[in-house]
Amino acid sequence: MKRITRKEDLTSLLLQYKQEGKRIGLVPTMGALHQGHLSLVQQSLKYTDVTVASIFVNPTQFNNKTDLLKYPKPIAEDIAKLEQAGCHILFHPEVDEMYPEVDEPWEYEVGELDLLLEGEFRPGHYKGVTQIVYKLFKTAIPDVAFFGQKDYQQFLVIKKMVNDLHLPIQLKSCDIIREADGLAMSSRNIHLNPEERLAALSLSKALLFIKDNYNLLSIDELKQQANKFFTGSNLLNLEYLRICNPDNLYDLQEKGPAIALIACFVGTTRLIDNMMLA
Ligand code: PAF
Repeated sequence: MKRITRKEDLTSLLLQYKQEGKRIGLVPTMGALHQGHLSLVQQSLKYTDVTVASIFVNPTQFNNKTDLLKYPKPIAEDIAKLEQAGCHILFHPEVDEMYPEVDEPWEYEVGELDLLLEGEFRPGHYKGVTQIVYKLFKTAIPDVAFFGQKDYQQFLVIKKMVNDLHLPIQLKSCDIIREADGLAMSSRNIHLNPEERLAALSLSKALLFIKDNYNLLSIDELKQQANKFFTGSNLLNLEYLRICNPDNLYDLQEKGPAIALIACFVGTTRLIDNMMLA
């Protein structure tokens, strides 16, 4: 696996591949890689000719400084995992490479999605996500970019940006990968102590309850009963549990295509999860 830290080195290498007719796949990550990330690499290896994974903990998308400071950075392990997965190129820039002192202002307006759910609880988050993803797209010139469904709203935001800015990039959303007991894999799970790890199962249990009962209960009943998964433990602090239209994330008024989404603090660790219902 080639390791590249400078934007221009990556772009010039990838332009050569493109000239040879090769299709580039990009897997943007913030590192602390788990099976969820590696499944994106596998998808990229399957659908494209050259797979680039990026590892960059993007400061502009953190609205909580402590979260940024404690974000795990096990770079040696990450490199070994990518090597083993068969990734071709790792792009691993420093902060000043992606955010030079003289930088173009980022003026893209995310729109309504910036006000809902994650946007509501993490103001400015998607401004930072779109800013770095745009920079990564410009640098890695991918034909296809792969994202996990765990960040469902992020995928919608990036899809909108790609449409609005007419970027010639195909986006693929890949399934959530779960631990055997249902917990969605996340780089942040590393922060959970054994008691919190157990309490964290409430997220996937509540989602599964909603999915299993979607045709049996009303939307209000589903939400009321699913909320109960979060009341028994003082380790859990639910931010939102919503059942939404999967296209625009508006709260669903009547049954139809639907997704349930949850954000919850487990101790001091904020986790998100979601499940398609119909
Ligand atoms: O999903 C993530 O890990 C990040 O939000 C991303 C897309 C790599 C941008 O920093």
